Amino acid sequence: MNVQNRTIFEGDNLHILRGLDSESVDLIYLDPPFNSNRNYAAPIGSKAAGAAFTDTWTLSDIDKAWHGEIAEREPVLYQAIHTAELTHGKSMKSYLIMMAVRMLEMKRVLKNTGSVYLHCDPTASHYLKVLMDSVFGKNNFKNEIVWNSATGVKNNVRTRFGRGHDIILFYGMPKSQFNMQYTPLSEAYLKSHYVYKDENGRRFRADNLNAPGGSGHHYEFLGVTKNWRMTEAQARQWLKEGRIVHQSITPGSRVKIPGYKRYADESKGRPALDNWTDIGALNSQAKEYVGYPTQKPTALLERIIKASSNEGDIVLDPFCGCATTCVAAERHNRHWIGIDISPKAIQLVNLRLEREVGFLGEIIQRKDIPRRSEKLPNYRTHKHTVYGKQEGYCNGCKGHFPFRNMTIDHLVPRSKGGTDHAENLQLLCGACNSTKGNGTQAELIARLKNTGIL
Ligand SMILES: C[S@@+](CC[C@H](N)C(=O)[O-])C[C@H]1O[C@@H](n2cnc3c(N)ncnc32)[C@H](O)[C@@H]1O
Repeated sequence: MNVQNRTIFEGDNLHILRGLDSESVDLIYLDPPFNSNRNYAAPIGSKAAGAAFTDTWTLSDIDKAWHGEIAEREPVLYQAIHTAELTHGKSMKSYLIMMAVRMLEMKRVLKNTGSVYLHCDPTASHYLKVLMDSVFGKNNFKNEIVWNSATGVKNNVRTRFGRGHDIILFYGMPKSQFNMQYTPLSEAYLKSHYVYKDENGRRFRADNLNAPGGSGHHYEFLGVTKNWRMTEAQARQWLKEGRIVHQSITPGSRVKIPGYKRYADESKGRPALDNWTDIGALNSQAKEYVGYPTQKPTALLERIIKASSNEGDIVLDPFCGCATTCVAAERHNRHWIGIDISPKAIQLVNLRLEREVGFLGEIIQRKDIPRRSEKLPNYRTHKHTVYGKQEGYCNGCKGHFPFRNMTIDHLVPRSKGGTDHAENLQLLCGACNSTKGNGTQAELIARLKNTGIL
């Protein structure tokens, strides 16, 4: 990876993503604007005061070149965006184009053992899922996580149910890792499943020790002869340790069969499902609340980071806001990179890491675009961007030409040390390109003037 651990970038994430090495990141969490048609601002007086972003999209917000780029590189993706435009309108199209170009870069920087979590809400989650299927692969889809984000919110609308959840789309590459997370046992579950108490008042349940379907070990144990799941030596050991309960397996039943005492206080909890109701949304009284609009709870990020990364892995958040992902990653010894267009993110990451994790070391703050350490992609991939920049006009004769009739020209020819970076490229019509040959741009313009074309 060409960027160091604990780096926070201020700038448009598209440019910064394009500067990150390919296949270098283990986990990406992104919480972009949701196309909610709202403007967000932090409350005056809060630590985040001054932070604001708009979440309304029009075609003029997006770079013209992205259109062509998606249409050329990912025709299926472009088709999905076009369908969204037909059903939802131009604003959705603009939003999805903004997201799609970034998704393509995220896919490029993600390792083939990596995972990505896209946080959104029902405004656009259905369209975003189609895009994610197309970019990250439908077979790599793992979960649509429903996070109950509505703690304390009242339903003031009388024409529908209150909206109380966000959606997190989780994709894991074919070799991605997953560490199961557990949710605490609820009081209702304890009451219905851990029905016994021992002499110290510890709740336990009696686990069935039958061997499944004819397997196991056949012997007599506490007056019951059958196929047991454990060996006889193991059964005697558990009895000595007080782990065997000679009680009815189902409460109230007269038949008494030995069972294994499983204590509630030894349980890790229940393997987490995809509906997360145990992590509440932040309220203004929470210790970690800094007032940043749309700040997410650290516990949410901790679950994601623990599930889909290990210590030392690289976690990237390209819309990091007040740096919640960076705080959670630091707490769990992951390396992290944050990007946000708002300067507030840089200010808050320092404050939060010190206050919430006790981290006093150096955080790298950057505004420049990193340079990839790998070989640059073929310069022809820039053709759409340059076409968008020139709006379809030849940079020589100034005539307007369709995309396919334009040719790429190196402003400073490669033979003279010119590079393949986009800044050194322009589009010329075929006639102007052959007129320019190996000469300079000034020479081309002079020739065109001499021949009366300009
Ligand atoms: C929903 S908020 C993220 C909140 C964050 N998860 C947290 O807990 O604080 C979206 C963030 O995306 C940022 N943003 C919007 N467009 C961006 C872009 N093109 N590049 C980088 N950041 C962008 C906004 O400044 C905002 O902070």
